[in-house]
Amino acid sequence: MPDQNYRDIHKVHFPSLLLIQYLSMKKSMKSRRHFMQTAGTAAITIPTLIKGYSSTEMQIFDRNNLSEVDISKWDLDTPALCLDLDAFEKNLQVMHHAMVENGIASRPHAKTHKCPAIARMQLESGSIGICVAKVSEAQIMFEHGISQILCTTTNVSKQKIKHAMNLRRWCSTFIQATDSADNARMLSEAAESMNITADIVVDVDPGGHRTGITPGDPALELAQIVDRLPGLNLQGILCYDGGSQHVKGFEIRREQTLERLAAAGETLSLMQRSGLNTGIFSGGGTGTYNIDHETAGFTDVQAGSYVFMDAQYLAIGAKDNPDQYSDFQSCLTILSTVVNDQYPDRVTTDAGAKSCTINQPWPMVKGETGMNYRSGSDEFGTLTYEDPSRTYKVGDKLELIVSHCDPVVNLYNQIYAIRNDRVEAIWQIAARGMSR
Ligand SMILES: Cc1ncc(COP(=O)(O)O)c(C=O)c1O
Repeated sequence: MPDQNYRDIHKVHFPSLLLIQYLSMKKSMKSRRHFMQTAGTAAITIPTLIKGYSSTEMQIFDRNNLSEVDISKWDLDTPALCLDLDAFEKNLQVMHHAMVENGIASRPHAKTHKCPAIARMQLESGSIGICVAKVSEAQIMFEHGISQILCTTTNVSKQKIKHAMNLRRWCSTFIQATDSADNARMLSEAAESMNITADIVVDVDPGGHRTGITPGDPALELAQIVDRLPGLNLQGILCYDGGSQHVKGFEIRREQTLERLAAAGETLSLMQRSGLNTGIFSGGGTGTYNIDHETAGFTDVQAGSYVFMDAQYLAIGAKDNPDQYSDFQSCLTILSTVVNDQYPDRVTTDAGAKSCTINQPWPMVKGETGMNYRSGSDEFGTLTYEDPSRTYKVGDKLELIVSHCDPVVNLYNQIYAIRNDRVEAIWQIAARGMSR
């Protein structure tokens, strides 16, 4: 246990260190501004002595107008989560065009990025709303100005139901999923107690038995109950088939998806014949975004990973490319530094399980071949060479294509948005850790 002295030193000195850092950066920014005014030029350069920026320094730059400074991605302290803006923006466009072509909409899942800035860009690029997995994620998104929110998870505890309905009080466009009659009754009671009528979708199981109610008569019955309950307003159904998203090979994926969505489609027809509201039939993901519309009545795709594209998705194969899922470009990377090069055929980096997770396939070194990466130990990654396109020395930096984007994003406070190797923006992952 640290002694009293240690604590006192930290109490007194840590804030003052930050303050000194802040003041000296402000000064250096002022002198750069002065340089710009006197030199009459738009180009601002960072003094060459300053190399390497911690996340705290980057936050200070961000608060003081990041666009005035010219910071290379390669000067960021590592591990750092980076996003290639050109590729990211292309992914937004590809999704939008596919939706227009297929006559449906996108309602991207924000569980992937947990980042209000990205949610905003998705809405600006044509999405009709966002999905969230947790009510605490919804809360953060709403607090950051996002209001078209669908919570795809049924909230079963009293606390969560209260939280969701309280959110609905302030956010009139919030939609909540339910998958049982008891849960619907609890939602209705909570809504009534707050003098609101909550919009609800019935979650239908595609066959994976993870969540949702059995399609057909059980789902129809639940929809009728929701429709009758005084505090609820039935909006339709959702059916997310997670088991089909990563099926390798487009035709096999398509066959399985359509087979498993068929029962939800029939449920929707039953609901229509009963005169119920079927305005929403939401589901699907990155693996099936160009398949789901083939099911009659389907309205919107909940794809999440498409914005980043991770190594897991790259492996599933595209409609026109069986070797790689090339519809979207992988744009999310972990910038990492080599910390040891003393042993043959390998180097050690500073990005281990706490920076990359231990999901598989293992992260891939961007732009290189003939090497394998493992993030197995907590703080260190191991890069081994087979027939490497290059080798690394201590201090060198490399970029890793993430294995599975959702849990990786949840490890970081911020995303560095990069264009032409320059930090253009810093986006807070505001819903990071919001897993309630
Ligand atoms: C309910 C729901 N919808 C959509 C998605 C998005 O899937 P993907 O990231 O594969 O596009 C997920 C992901 O787990 C999900 O749970």
